[in-house]
Amino acid sequence: MTTERVRWGILGAGNIARTFVGDLVAQGLEVAAVASRDARRAAEFAAELSIPTSYGSYEALVADPGVDVIYIATPQAFHAEQALLAIDGGKPVLVEKSFTNDAPEAERVVAAARAKGVFAMEAMWTRFLPTADAIGDVLERGSIGELVSVSSSHFQNLDVAPTSRHGNPELGGGVMADLGVYGVSFASRYLGEPTSMLVDGEASELGVDLSASVLLRHGAGRTSATLTRMDAPGSNRAAVVGSDGWIDIDSVFYASTSFTVYDGGRGQRELLRFDKPQHVGRGMQFQALEVERCLSAGELESPRMPLDESIAIMRTLDQVRARIAAARSSSVSR
Ligand SMILES: NC(=O)c1ccc[n+]([C@@H]2O[C@H](COP(=O)([O-])OP(=O)(O)OC[C@H]3O[C@@H](n4cnc5c(N)ncnc54)[C@H](OP(=O)(O)O)[C@@H]3O)[C@@H](O)[C@H]2O)c1
Repeated sequence: MTTERVRWGILGAGNIARTFVGDLVAQGLEVAAVASRDARRAAEFAAELSIPTSYGSYEALVADPGVDVIYIATPQAFHAEQALLAIDGGKPVLVEKSFTNDAPEAERVVAAARAKGVFAMEAMWTRFLPTADAIGDVLERGSIGELVSVSSSHFQNLDVAPTSRHGNPELGGGVMADLGVYGVSFASRYLGEPTSMLVDGEASELGVDLSASVLLRHGAGRTSATLTRMDAPGSNRAAVVGSDGWIDIDSVFYASTSFTVYDGGRGQRELLRFDKPQHVGRGMQFQALEVERCLSAGELESPRMPLDESIAIMRTLDQVRARIAAARSSSVSR
């Protein structure tokens, strides 16, 4: 890196990129450039968010010596190809969730990053929120005993038309890639990769998964449950259950939020109430701060979102989707 201040480059001038840039700027971080396939869209995005440089091609962004790290904010279908573009150009990369289209793509990205000695991380922003840190503290103190189970629900009313990002298989659409990944990542964070699963769900005519109920076994009798669908809103709460108590995480569990810790003894006492933390923006800056910490420490991946875990999460998503597809083809042929 050429400067002490990390200069971010934004690849894709869309919806989540706008929120990400807003959060970084509000936190005092530096966004140096944005690229879109469309030079005018990039220029408008740059003007709106006071970004000094805009490009009409992703290659130009990667080649800019004034950019230290690239944030990829495009639909899932393009993450691997664009991450490889950045890595090939020697640029560290933060890749929106889900990390790639599938596990083989994730393996290719990780292998390329490791071969080139370039930092890469999945942008699972939830893990870096102050709420997640506070939950980690509760678990470390042993307040709820041995972890045995986690559960979460993630429902949103999204546009699932075949032309939309969520409904189009060509864009990597599907509920598991967009919403279910939060629940799977949440379970993975606390319980590791599953050893077996039970899955039910529905897919569209185009084979895009629309809803999923996912029960995972993680070994040693530990379990997780993820309920998700993208045609209805929901409370989107979660729970972390231990042998001596539990944590109820308030809506929206994957964002900056509050939680309550309960002692599971006879009185089921409230042990701790954690209020929603005060910070600027939505909270997408915390993952960026972790990237900047890793870069300044010379770390090629974050211990808080390891690359092997991102691959494992993609493996789980692939297996869930394969089961939904198999259930659909057997019900269609019946
Ligand atoms: N962390 C979160 O809370 C969160 C929330 C929402 C989404 N996401 C993730 O962020 C990513 C982008 O989601 P989004 O809602 O921001 O998407 P979006 O606004 O629909 O698209 C973002 C950008 O992707 C490129 N793009 C869109 N459609 C394309 C197509 N058909 N072919 C090629 N490129 C296309 C465009 O880049 P150009 O500007 O270059 O044309 C567009 O500006 C997804 O991976 C999603 O899962 C994360």
